[in-house]
Amino acid sequence: IGVRFLGGQAASPLRESAVEEEMDWDNLGFGLVQTDYMYLMKCGEDDEFEAGQLSRFGNIELSPSAGVLNYGQGIFEGTKAYRSENGGLFLFRPQENAIRMQIGAERMCMQSPSVHQFIHAVKQTALANRRWIPPPGIGSLYIRPLLIGSGPVLGLAPAAEYTFLVYASPVGNYFKEGTAPINLYVEDVFHRAGRGGAGGVKSITNYAPVLKAMRRAKDKGFSDVLYLDANNKKDIEEVSSSNVFMLKDNVISTPPTNGTILEGITRKSIMDIAQDLGYQVQERAIPIQELLGADEVFCTGTAVGVAPVGSITYKGNRVEYKMSTELGCLKLHSTLVGIQRGEIEDSRGWLVQI
Ligand code: COI
Repeated sequence: IGVRFLGGQAASPLRESAVEEEMDWDNLGFGLVQTDYMYLMKCGEDDEFEAGQLSRFGNIELSPSAGVLNYGQGIFEGTKAYRSENGGLFLFRPQENAIRMQIGAERMCMQSPSVHQFIHAVKQTALANRRWIPPPGIGSLYIRPLLIGSGPVLGLAPAAEYTFLVYASPVGNYFKEGTAPINLYVEDVFHRAGRGGAGGVKSITNYAPVLKAMRRAKDKGFSDVLYLDANNKKDIEEVSSSNVFMLKDNVISTPPTNGTILEGITRKSIMDIAQDLGYQVQERAIPIQELLGADEVFCTGTAVGVAPVGSITYKGNRVEYKMSTELGCLKLHSTLVGIQRGEIEDSRGWLVQI
């Protein structure tokens, strides 16, 4: 057995009011707040996931030769649960995460849960931790599904056992800037992904390699890093943990997902919302020089939400952007958040009540 759960037995749910008293909901950032339960499900050599179960949140035990520890065989997802004004609890497009995990698992030679198993696990985790879903209008419960090669390997090969686990944490704004515009640094030495690699899926191996460039940029006072195409070193790709968009006149553009850029669910949702709001939407190569001449630039992601970009620095030159208070990025943001919180009609059926 590659993984063993070390947490205690499922305990009786703690009082919801206890969390309300303890939590400083108005100052939620994006850091782990341990919640009560996690969900765990395993798949052995018969390639079938066994029935999963909730356990108290806690450490897991892995073989030192687990595939994930030695060769990075792991992928993850991010999705959020919201509490609406009328007390309903909702997930936002969890089936998209389930499908994306299946595509990522195929790329990484891993067994993956079915869409039904994935959504069931996410729902169970959200419900078991419902007291941690922030009050309406304040943040959300970030849910992290994780699929790892937990079986032992020594030679380079796919693991023979996979563990799917889901945990959750209440979160607020991703960037320390809160909802204020962020400042991006264009990285022209390091690249995030190359053609034929795994940049287009949520492999865990895509994230540690961006830390160095991110730390250098943060040390210089920037919020995050914008990557360029590794081949031509000219077209924009994405930010460390989010997709990027530009607005010019009535056209909203974002780079195409051609294998090096993550198929963001927020990205896809914003493209639909932009079309509904009357913008022309284009997926196309965007040279960095064109981005510098945009009216507005913004980032999208599940964790990030829709973050306005206040400045971009490229080769020592800083370009600043002004946000329109009524239109553009802020309107897209308020529409998305309005749908997620149940304040704007969900005409596409994106919300799943739990
Ligand atoms: C998400 O948006 O859910 C992500 O996975 C980003 C993560 C690196 C914080």
